[in-house]
Amino acid sequence: MAVISDHCPDIQITLVDKDKSKIEAWNSKDLTELPIFEPGLKEVVARNRKNNLFFSSDIKGSIEEADMIFISVNTPTKIRGLGAGYASDLKWVESSARQVAKYAKGHTIVVEKSTVPVRTAELIQEILNGAEKQNNNFYNKTFSVLSSPEFLAEGTAIKDLENPDRVLIGGSDNEAIGFLRDIYLKWIPLNKILLTNIWSSELSKLIANAFLAQRVSSINSISALCESTGADIYEVVKAIGSDKRIGEKFLSPGPGFGGSCFKKDILNLVYLCRFYNLESVANYWEQVLFINDWQKKRISSLIVEKFFGTVANKNIVILGFSFKYNTNDTRESPSIQIVKDLIENGAQLHINDPKVTSKQIEEELGLKEFQIDSVSSGSWNFSDDVFNSSRNADAVVICTEWDEYKSMDWEKLSILLRKPSWIFDTRNVISKENLKKLDINIWQVGTT
Ligand code: UGA
Repeated sequence: MAVISDHCPDIQITLVDKDKSKIEAWNSKDLTELPIFEPGLKEVVARNRKNNLFFSSDIKGSIEEADMIFISVNTPTKIRGLGAGYASDLKWVESSARQVAKYAKGHTIVVEKSTVPVRTAELIQEILNGAEKQNNNFYNKTFSVLSSPEFLAEGTAIKDLENPDRVLIGGSDNEAIGFLRDIYLKWIPLNKILLTNIWSSELSKLIANAFLAQRVSSINSISALCESTGADIYEVVKAIGSDKRIGEKFLSPGPGFGGSCFKKDILNLVYLCRFYNLESVANYWEQVLFINDWQKKRISSLIVEKFFGTVANKNIVILGFSFKYNTNDTRESPSIQIVKDLIENGAQLHINDPKVTSKQIEEELGLKEFQIDSVSSGSWNFSDDVFNSSRNADAVVICTEWDEYKSMDWEKLSILLRKPSWIFDTRNVISKENLKKLDINIWQVGTT
């Protein structure tokens, strides 16, 4: 929305949330206090806030005034009830639609931006139809529903929005489609704006994420085969990626994919397939998740094995807790599972991340900083100073590919470690070649 406000000074955009503290943070003078860290975001917000970009908790008033409403709420995996563990929880979408139905006046275009299961627009449309049909429709409410899913990736969100590969508009009301297309046309060429039916638009978002996640699981599965056979995953990636039909993107091996989208969207896809009795299709996609979990477990087990089966009381420095670099988002981060496994094995962990706070780590692990796990005696603390924490530590595990780690003085750090020491590089951050002369063991994903 901030990027739309940047390109469309004539349009007034109001972001609403019932969580007042979030709105306060978005309005805060100090731009480092915005609720999300995203490169380039604070600059866009600073340029447009209070000109044509507003943050408000006045949901009723904002809906009343709006000509177009984007529903951009969370759709997490259901944790209870029908479809628990797989289906997306649409309660926020539904309550947003109900508020729109209640407060809208005149004609309103409602755009589904959240990632939703195919046919969610039907639910929104039904709720809005109810409002249209009510006898006392004093405000002449009418609605058009469109789907226009978001394809931005965290860490590159502004870049992705500025220069998208494509945007989708799904729907059947040509006038509403025209309005939305004219907004995108302010900075996106016409040939990148794809018009589809509403169900194709909804489904395309899920499938794009499923295909991306599938590539990560595919390359991670082959990373293990490389380690067993002496092949080098980076040479394999180069060889296959230069085949234009395969392409070079999204083939970086790592500790498994994280983030709020891939797992949730594949679970949802699996659920949908089972709902439509497509069991073989569901099983096929579910394997992408099995491999992802397996990769995380494989890495934590390998660390324990390299220490002859025990990391109890060993000091291990963890570099990176966000699910990828350039974001402070920790949702489904592969670090969570790896860290939990090491604590379960009794390790003392010192966790560093340039953007993640100790509070976030505490919430993800369900274990307080410095608290000793009652069963394993493992524990963790936040490390502000990687070099200090590495003094006499037994190992360093690189979980996130932050630039800070790439440019770190690894030679200096290696000398501080207690021998025999290990560096476990799950993201290809260090150059093995440069550290060859040091008395240190290095494991790098997909290589021997
Ligand atoms: C993903 C999609 O890339 C976006 O197009 C989509 O809009 C977004 O989900 C969404 O549905 O909101 P995001 O989860 O922010 O974006 O991040 P990605 O860059 O896709 O990375 C996801 C995970 O895969 C990260 O943990 C990353 O480290 C991992 N990954 C990615 C790899 O391990 N190897 C790769 O080659 C690429």
